[in-house]
Amino acid sequence: MTHPAEEQTFEKPATAAYPISELISQRWSPRAYSERSVDRYLLAQLFEAARWAPSSSNEQPWAFFIAEKGTEGWQKLFDTLVPFNQDWVKLAPVLVLGLARKNFAGNGAPNRHALYDLGQAVGGLLAEATALGLSVHQMAGFDPDRARVALHIPDNYELGAAMTIGYPAKAEILPDGLRARELAPRQRHPIESFVYEGDFGKPAQFPPSR
Ligand SMILES: Cc1cc2nc3c(=O)[nH]c(=O)nc-3n(C[C@H](O)[C@H](O)[C@H](O)COP(=O)(O)O)c2cc1C
Repeated sequence: MTHPAEEQTFEKPATAAYPISELISQRWSPRAYSERSVDRYLLAQLFEAARWAPSSSNEQPWAFFIAEKGTEGWQKLFDTLVPFNQDWVKLAPVLVLGLARKNFAGNGAPNRHALYDLGQAVGGLLAEATALGLSVHQMAGFDPDRARVALHIPDNYELGAAMTIGYPAKAEILPDGLRARELAPRQRHPIESFVYEGDFGKPAQFPPSR
C-alpha cells in the first residue's frame, strides 16, 4: 500500500479463514478521509479498471457520475445522502454514483444483468483502488429519486451505489459515534454458510485451511 507516512493509518485486513490475495484482504470501507485530493490520473486508472470488467454480452452497461469536492456536482450528490452518511462524507475528496443502463443499447430489450455487471465493474475499481493506496466506501444511504432529478439521470438507468474515493485518515478525526465503528473488527459469515453442494442449503465441504 502506498500511503505517505503522515497518512499511515490503521488498516483492517480481513481475518481470512483461507489464504487470499492482499488486494482482497486489505480493502475495507473507512469513513475517515484525509483532505488530500485524488489526482485525476489515478481516477482514470480506477475507471480503466472498471472498464475491463466482464459483462453479459459485453454490454458494459455501467456509467459513473464523478464529482470532486468543491464542485457543484459534489454538492448535488452530497445533498442526496442521508444525514448519517453526510456526517463522514463531508471529508471525502471524491464522490461517485454508479449507474447501470437497464436495456441493451442494440435492441432496447431489458438487461437483467445490468446491476450485476455494474457491481463487477465496481469490484474491479475497488481492487485497483486498493493497489493504489486509495480507499472507497460505497453507500446505499442516499435518496435515489432526488439524485435522479439533481443529476438528470435518464429513466433507463438504474442507480447503483454512491461511493467516496480518497486517502484514508486516522479514526480520531471522526465524530464519537463513528469512531467506534471505524475501529470495530470486520465480520463475515463462514463460507460453509453460503456455498452449497448437492442441494440448496447443504454446505459444501472444503479441506481445513493450511
Ligand atoms: C451497496 C452498498 C451499500 C452500502 N451503504 C452504506 C451506507 O449507506 N453507509 C455506510 O456507512 N456504509 C455503507 N456500506 C458499507 C458497508 O457497510 C461495508 O462494506 C460492510 O460493512 C463491510 O465492511 P468492509 O467494506 O469494510 O469490509 C455499503 C456497502 C455496499 C456494498
